[in-house]
Order: sequence, then structure tokens, then C-alpha cells
Amino acid sequence: MLYYIVTYGCQMNVHESEKIAFILESKGYKPAQKREDADVIVFNTCAIREGAEDRVFGNVGALKKLKKQKPETIIAVCGCSTQKQSTATKIKQMFPFVDIIIGTFNLHKLGSYIDQAREKKVLELWQEGEIDEENSFLRSDKSNAWVNIMQGCNNFCSYCIVPYVRGREKSRSVDKILQEVKQIVSEGKYKKITLLGQNVNSYGKDLSPQVSFASLLRKISQIEGDFKISFMTSHPKDLTNELIDEIATNDKVEKSLHLPAQSGNNRILKLMNRSYTREKYLSLINKLRKKVPSITLSSDFIVGFPTETEQEFEDTLSLVKQVQFDSIFAFIYSPREGTVAAKMDGQIPLEIKRDRVNRLLKLEKQIQKEKHK
Ligand code: 5AD
Ligand code: SF4
Repeated sequence: MLYYIVTYGCQMNVHESEKIAFILESKGYKPAQKREDADVIVFNTCAIREGAEDRVFGNVGALKKLKKQKPETIIAVCGCSTQKQSTATKIKQMFPFVDIIIGTFNLHKLGSYIDQAREKKVLELWQEGEIDEENSFLRSDKSNAWVNIMQGCNNFCSYCIVPYVRGREKSRSVDKILQEVKQIVSEGKYKKITLLGQNVNSYGKDLSPQVSFASLLRKISQIEGDFKISFMTSHPKDLTNELIDEIATNDKVEKSLHLPAQSGNNRILKLMNRSYTREKYLSLINKLRKKVPSITLSSDFIVGFPTETEQEFEDTLSLVKQVQFDSIFAFIYSPREGTVAAKMDGQIPLEIKRDRVNRLLKLEKQIQKEKHK
């Protein structure tokens, strides 16, 4: 009995695929080298941009032939994309050979859905779910261990689908996180622990009593052992002085930060609902560099947000030039159904978006070349 998992999207999904692998291996399945050999094929999908969703449709569709030849193969589609009712229904209609369609909140039930799938098809989406604390993982990386500290997002950036498919912020308890990290460290092979959440800087605001993310870092670092702590993703609006001081003074915390700016223009930042200005972002960078001179910085940018003018895009270029990031991720704005920005007038033509993303990436290359020199 063999399984094959196809993972799309961010580190959170990579980590959740480690959970899927654990669920399948506890049922006696072993990894297959290729999907054709598998008895269970799982697609763990991403909804962040249209391109990611199109790839899912293409790859699931391509299994039609395989399913005809081997009808006993179970095909499951889960993750952010299928959490949307419209996509789940579309998959059901377009690919009737898919056996299981579930979302993000009922992933932990995958094992029992597989048992049912032999009798009848499963399409089950939960609208909310508690954090699954009894989870275990089949860790896929030899030196880095992912640890989820929270799920969901409350920010509703106007372009982003995440709050709709991952729900509101829910933090795991400090005790459970410490217990998991202790276990990982005791295995002795992981040199790095990467804490995951859509917005780690607001960790603990929903716990009672409240706990700050900086204090969680402090507690984790007190665990004895030779390991470094890294985390993602940080929102500039929640990057506190306490956290900057913790990064500066805690030897176990890596001196690198991924701090998505998204745009360098204040009008666009406002439309994006990011709750900070270019000036605020730059002052955070200054503070970080002053307190942690060796820090490496990376960021995300979206180009071609609705109504973005050439000049406003140039503000993004100038921000990138000014900060001299070590690396950036540049994305073409992709309208996501149900978000505020998707309904806005002034959508930017694809050629212009392509041109802007290329110019931004070219600038990044120039900066990196200079830095390497
Ligand atoms: N279009 C393009 N990029 C997006 N991102 C999030 N939503 C969209 C969208 N609709 C980018 C942001 C975020 C990263 C993970 O993906 O830059 O930081
Ligand atoms: Fe999306 Fe904004 Fe939340 Fe990040 S902070 S997941 S971009 S809504």
C-alpha cells in the first residue's frame, strides 16, 4: 500500500503534508516513488494566486487516465483551494473520479475519510475548526523542523484569500509548543526550529492570559540544546520593540527576518489595508539594523494592485533600493474571488503587471550582485 503527496504553496502546507504523511503511514501506507504506483494520491492545494490553483486543476485532471486504468486508487484533494466551496464544487463537477474533497479545518480526519472512500465519495468542508493538538508529523527535512504556533489570520489585507480559507487567528498553548520543541530537540538531529504562522507577531493575543511572541521565543530558547530558532511570517504592524530586542539579544534566534512590505506607496498600502505607511516600514528597518547590525532582510511585494500607477510602482522600486533587501519575492497581483480588491475598479492589464514584476526582479538581481561583490 503506497501513497504519494503533491504539495503546493507555502511552508504551512509543506508542514501539513508532513501531517498527512504521518496519518497515511500510521494506516500502514509507505511512500511511492511516483504517483502511478500509489494507492492513495493526495493533492495539498494552495489558493493564494490563480497560477497555483490552475496547476491543481491541470494535475488533478491529468489523473483521469490513471484512475481509469487503476480504479481502486484513492484520489484526495485538500488544503486552501478546496476550502472554498466554489472550488470544491468545481472539482467535484469537473473531475468526478476524485474520491475525497476536504478543506483546511478537517484535514486531521483524512485517515477516516480514506476508509469511507472505498464505499462512497467524500465532500466535506468544515467552516471552522479547533487547532488539532494531538497531531504528529513525518518530518521531511533533515535539519529543519517546522513547528506550527498558530493558525488563521485576522488582518484581511484586501487582496488576500488567507483569512477566508484559514479562519481567524488561533494560537496554540505555550505548553504544547514547548512540549513539541523539547521532543524535536531531544531527537538531536534538527539544528533549526522554524515557527510557523500567517502572522506570528500577533501570537498569543487570543490566549488568556495573553502571551507575547517575544516571550514565547524566550521560553523556547531556554530549552537546552544546540539549535537556532527562526520564524515566519511577520507583519510590520505587529513588530514590537520587545520583539526587536529579543532578536537582538537572544543567541538562539536567527538574525534574519522576512518582513513583507507589499508596496512602497502609501496610497496603495492603504488600499491594501496593511495598516502601516512607507515611513513606518522604513523606520522599523532602521531600528532593526541599529539593534541587529548583522540582520539579513527579505520581503514580499505585489505589483499591479488595482489602480496602481507607474509612479506608485516606482515607489516600490525606490523602497527596495533604499532598504537593499538580501532577497525579495515579487508577485503579480492576482484577483481572488471574495476579497475586497477583486471587486475594485482599475484592474491592471497583465502586460503591465508582467513588465513591473520583471523590473522589480531585475532590481533585486542588481542589488544582490552589488552585495556579493
Ligand atoms: N496576488 C498576488 N500575491 C499575493 N500574495 C497574497 N495574496 C496575493 C494575491 N492575491 C502574496 C503576498 C504575500 C505572499 C505570501 O503572497 O505578497 O506576502
Ligand atoms: Fe494575507 Fe495579510 Fe493575513 Fe498575510 S497578513 S495572511 S497577506 S491577510
